[in-house]
Amino acid sequence: MADIIIVDDDLGVCRSLQMLFNKDAHSVSVVHTASAALQLLGDNRYDVIFTDLKLPDMSGLDIVAFAKKRLPTSEIIVITGYATIETAVEAIKSGAYDYLTKPLSIEKVRITLKRVMEKIELTRQVDVLRRQLHDSINFENMIGSSTKMQEIFKTIRQIAEGDSTVLITGESGTGKELVARAIHYNSQRRSSPFVAVNCAAFSRELIESELFGHIKGAFTGAIKEKTGFIEMASGGTLLLDEIGETTTEFQVKLLRVLQEGEYYKVGQTSPSKMKSRIIAASNRNLEKAISEGTFRKDLFYRLNVISIHIPPLRDRRQDVPLLAHHFIKKYASRLTSKEVTAITHETIEVLMQYDYPGNIRELENAIEYAVTFAASSQITPNDLPQSFASLSLKSAGAQLPLIPLKAALYEYERALLIAALTHCDGNISMAARHLAIHRQRLQQKIKEFSIDTENIKK
Ligand SMILES: Nc1ncnc2c1ncn2[C@@H]1O[C@H](COP(=O)(O)OP(=O)(O)OP(=O)(O)O)[C@@H](O)[C@H]1O
Ligand SMILES: [Mg+2]
Repeated sequence: MADIIIVDDDLGVCRSLQMLFNKDAHSVSVVHTASAALQLLGDNRYDVIFTDLKLPDMSGLDIVAFAKKRLPTSEIIVITGYATIETAVEAIKSGAYDYLTKPLSIEKVRITLKRVMEKIELTRQVDVLRRQLHDSINFENMIGSSTKMQEIFKTIRQIAEGDSTVLITGESGTGKELVARAIHYNSQRRSSPFVAVNCAAFSRELIESELFGHIKGAFTGAIKEKTGFIEMASGGTLLLDEIGETTTEFQVKLLRVLQEGEYYKVGQTSPSKMKSRIIAASNRNLEKAISEGTFRKDLFYRLNVISIHIPPLRDRRQDVPLLAHHFIKKYASRLTSKEVTAITHETIEVLMQYDYPGNIRELENAIEYAVTFAASSQITPNDLPQSFASLSLKSAGAQLPLIPLKAALYEYERALLIAALTHCDGNISMAARHLAIHRQRLQQKIKEFSIDTENIKK
């Protein structure tokens, strides 16, 4: 369904178009002069504007110009007699989508409208995607109300513009890549590529040619020239993830690159200029790696000029509720079949008690799981993955009175028997079956616990 305006002084044209569009359930406004059209266009939003090129008070081109300026999302289709076909071409040049010639062919009008509607829909989708992309690079997508996270956000803003190397440390799943992306997208490098390389993913021999590239024939198997990651990230940012997994020989080469601002493609004798910013990340304790001799101290100091340490989630539990809500929104919007909109207070408490060895990634996965399997529109502790189960019990246990075990068991057993009997309207055989005991045994117990079955039957 579209909002359409028809501008034509030919009443017959107006009527037939209006009938056609109304039949297809579009909403239609009709005016016969350009000045009336401009007034409506100034106050309303239309998807499609059909305008005659020859109007009593102005040219249809004026309408095209006005609409292009004021209603950039509207599409314009001009209507023209053979005499004004050149003006129609001009209208297209100034941004009209298409033109129709008089006398109008209803079939042609229909096809043109269908095509323009498809274009509008496509533009809309691109807009949504663009907005999503923008959101995904914005701080809006990085959540953290804890002072520790707020400090990190501040650091990101302060260092985004520079060229200095950054070292990001933190346990797995704490958001190191997200921080690296935030630095990139908040800098002037944002329109150039952000390239993330997992150093642990390459064999120790290959990493050098992967990173620096190689020339043809540099070694056996180098059948053609290869662009390295540094070059791919040219003008942008290169994230060297798991930097602690590289060999000390590679570390020496990387240090040299950082110091000289130049690198050598494998097999090349002249250096290439380094144009990307390097961010390194590690979930290993690099100081420990230095003392163990697996990480070079000089590279560490070179990288550590600006360092960001992201604390594990268990050290900033106050971020859990916000993150949980953020992920509910993220995953709920992907499910169309049901609506999960809330989470109980009790569930948040359970989530806050957990230690998250996998940090935010683990919380995110837990919420995705809960949203998928939630029995209702509210997430409860029962919807969380198995790893949270003992915590749910613990938090349920917190409400139990502390009484001798024997008395507690007695109370529980009695309540259970009454529940089974009530459920079966006092029918002892049936209740015994639910409890998986013999009828006689249940009768004994009824006596033992002085349960009034007559009362239950009523
Ligand atoms: N502050 C945050 N707000 C919202 N989402 C976050 C935040 N931190 C991390 N995430 C999400 O958690 C997941 C893990 O983050 P990321 O990949 O950046 O972690 P990492 O530290 O690089 O992990 P690894 O060490 O395993 O590579 C991602 O889906 C990311 O979007
Ligand atoms: Mg990572």
